[in-house]
Amino acid sequence: MNREMQVIRKAVFPVAGMGSRFLPATKASPKEMMAIVDKPLIQYAVEEAVAAGITDMIFITGRNKRSIEDHFDKAYELEAELEKRGKIELLRITREVIPEGVNCIYIRQSEPLGLGHAVLCAESLIGNEPFAVLLADDFMVSEQSVTDQMVQVYNHHHSSVLAVQDVPREQTRQYGVVSSIRINAELEKVNGIVEKPDPEEAPSTLAVVGRYILTPRIFHHLRQLRPGSGGEIQLTDAIAALIEEEPVLAYRYQGIRYDCGSKLGFLKATVSLGLAHEEVRDEFAAYLQSLNTTHD
Ligand code: UTP
Repeated sequence: MNREMQVIRKAVFPVAGMGSRFLPATKASPKEMMAIVDKPLIQYAVEEAVAAGITDMIFITGRNKRSIEDHFDKAYELEAELEKRGKIELLRITREVIPEGVNCIYIRQSEPLGLGHAVLCAESLIGNEPFAVLLADDFMVSEQSVTDQMVQVYNHHHSSVLAVQDVPREQTRQYGVVSSIRINAELEKVNGIVEKPDPEEAPSTLAVVGRYILTPRIFHHLRQLRPGSGGEIQLTDAIAALIEEEPVLAYRYQGIRYDCGSKLGFLKATVSLGLAHEEVRDEFAAYLQSLNTTHD
């Protein structure tokens, strides 16, 4: 099929990481199942993909990921019990976890060999079409779904798109960092990318965050890779090779990102969503206010 005609139908959710920064919470349950107020991180990410018109959700799972499969499956006993008790609203919320027309597919990553390796596990299911990658622990709050924004960029340019954000220079060690040429206020053409550079060596402060649209050519490069930074097969290294062959764009998305793989980011997201949540916001705001007064 001609690439100009290809639509983004599939999303990959790598959920096989160790989640070591959140131990012991992640000892028996994946970090993507941690909830911000009342919804697990992975559900927010799936909803973001659905809002971009994506129908096939491919989860790359590891140890302890059963709860993710259960979350996106029908819960017969729970639904029957809620129905019996007349809890119609809760029944609706439970059923709506799996939006209509969406397929959930699970692949096991036998060992956590890195994000690049996790994405490569999806190759046979993706085939020869462009696809999205969403890291659910990068939690996005935005008016228009960030993935939808990126799909629009893809539809216009037909090339891979990386979500980027300016970060303080002392934080470059936590990210893949790009060097690029400005196209306009939102877009840059990427001409280099390095994983976790030291601040003094980082080519810029434009950091890649957990949203990607990739052309299927990425699989060719992932297959060639040997372990890189941290002994893992890095997606960043495959993107560095892709840049030599195809244009790759960096996109400054509209929205706020919370790094929910870190304790502080997770707490910030919880406070922010708590203050926006219909059911609790007034009492929660009053509670936070009372803490302020106590500490004055
Ligand atoms: P992180 O770098 O956040 O690592 O992975 P982690 O293991 O999840 O968490 P920490 O650093 O130990 O606390 C980035 C993303 O890649 C996935 C993770 O699930 C996360 O979404 N990943 C990482 C895999 O699916 N497989 C891997 O082998 C590594």
